[in-house]
Amino acid sequence: MSQKTNIALSVNGEQVQASVPARLNLVDFLRDHLGLTGSHVGCEQGACGACTLSVDGVMVRGCLMLAVQADGANIITVEAFGESVTGEQLQQSFVEHNALQCGFCTPGMLASGIDYIESGGSTDRTHIRKHISGNYCRCTGYQSIVDAIASVVEGRNSLAVETKQTPGAEESGTSNKRAGE
Ligand code: FES
Ligand code: FES
Repeated sequence: MSQKTNIALSVNGEQVQASVPARLNLVDFLRDHLGLTGSHVGCEQGACGACTLSVDGVMVRGCLMLAVQADGANIITVEAFGESVTGEQLQQSFVEHNALQCGFCTPGMLASGIDYIESGGSTDRTHIRKHISGNYCRCTGYQSIVDAIASVVEGRNSLAVETKQTPGAEESGTSNKRAGE
């Protein structure tokens, strides 16, 4: 009989309490216990990136972290990525650039893309490729994914230029949205 441990954490803004086996990994906990099946499980050994999600603002492999290690943490999964400006913009950009086919890699790709954009990543495609190199995609050939990420960065850069050229625009609350939104 496996011993269980009580944990309490925040998942996509909701407080969750559970009693979990010590060896249950975080992504299985989210999928099997909370029904959040958006985070996918591929290799289960930290190689494919399909299970990537945010723990206290850091993108981690959900298959390499135990649920008990997430006690007290703030978890954001793909189900809530669209609630942030970056996540919403990147999801839209994935659609516009046809950056997904089967969609298996997409939750992890979005996680790494959000991480890249929010860490101040540039439009340099080599840098983008390097940043998402831990996420495998068997369908797209990566080009459309790189384009989707670069497009969000480009949109932000042009908005920053416009804001600089338009005194007072920042104060009017337009700085966090792309032009036209
Ligand atoms: S399932 Fe976690 S990295 Fe592949
Ligand atoms: S879209 Fe199928 S694995 Fe990436």
